[in-house]
Amino acid sequence: MAALTDTFTLANEVRIPKIGFGTWQVPDGPETYDSVRAALDAGYRHIDTARAYGNEASVGRAVRDSGVARDELFITTKCPAEVKTADGARDAFQRSSAALDLGPVDLYLIHAPWPWSDRGSDHRDGNIEVWKVFEELYSSGESRSIGVSNFSVDDLESLLAATEVVPHANQIRWFIGNTQDETTAFCAEHAILVEGYSPLATGGLLDNREIAQIADRYGKSVAQVSIRYLLQRDVLPLPKSTTPARIVENAAVDFELSAEDMQALDGLDAGGL
Ligand code: A2P
Repeated sequence: MAALTDTFTLANEVRIPKIGFGTWQVPDGPETYDSVRAALDAGYRHIDTARAYGNEASVGRAVRDSGVARDELFITTKCPAEVKTADGARDAFQRSSAALDLGPVDLYLIHAPWPWSDRGSDHRDGNIEVWKVFEELYSSGESRSIGVSNFSVDDLESLLAATEVVPHANQIRWFIGNTQDETTAFCAEHAILVEGYSPLATGGLLDNREIAQIADRYGKSVAQVSIRYLLQRDVLPLPKSTTPARIVENAAVDFELSAEDMQALDGLDAGGL
């Protein structure tokens, strides 16, 4: 399926397959191993994990066992949100690299601008300190590209003002009805690719009647329309499933939503999801 092998091009010319396979909340061990193997078998070439998910070792093992050539794959992992010092960032990267055991990482992200236990707290200086380590990892080739996650416009502005390399990507919660317009526009202006996690609103969109009506007309599922919507907005979707049939379904999105249907979806209220 074209959507699995088509690529966006990051500002540094690195190509990134347009659909990534998300592994958030997938437990380490057989669940992660089997779902990553199923995704690779289905043709996914982009896998997204994080130190905080605790499943990097299973991701790495699944990738190595798959026999897919490493240079056909794009692997993202993330530095824990709690790490806000240079030493902490270096240590976290070494741990992720060792757990994955896949050579250089394709994209390394700051998981969040603040620790999860203290959302919204000010860590501008810590993020700059961590980012300087990211710049070293980038220039040494240990990570082929670097970015952030859950960063708002303010967070991005503070980072851009004090550092050299503009993040190549910002991974944010993004789905129909939750399109983060301000952050998305800022990222477009600065050539920062937006990656959307929870493109199905962690399942919350699946029983949406308006999306179902549109999906019926294309002979597609609500999940497929929801994922396609991101692609047509130039946002990279990271759908997540542990069910092989759904893993395949979520990548079968080689269809085009009409301008009118895109507009109707733009106007949908996520209903607080
Ligand atoms: P499961 O892993 O049991 O398949 P998101 O990508 O927004 O985080 O949503 C993930 C959730 O949506 C998971 O609970 C996953 O369940 C479910 N899901 C993923 N793909 C589909 C699909 N095609 N149809 C129905 N549910 C899906």
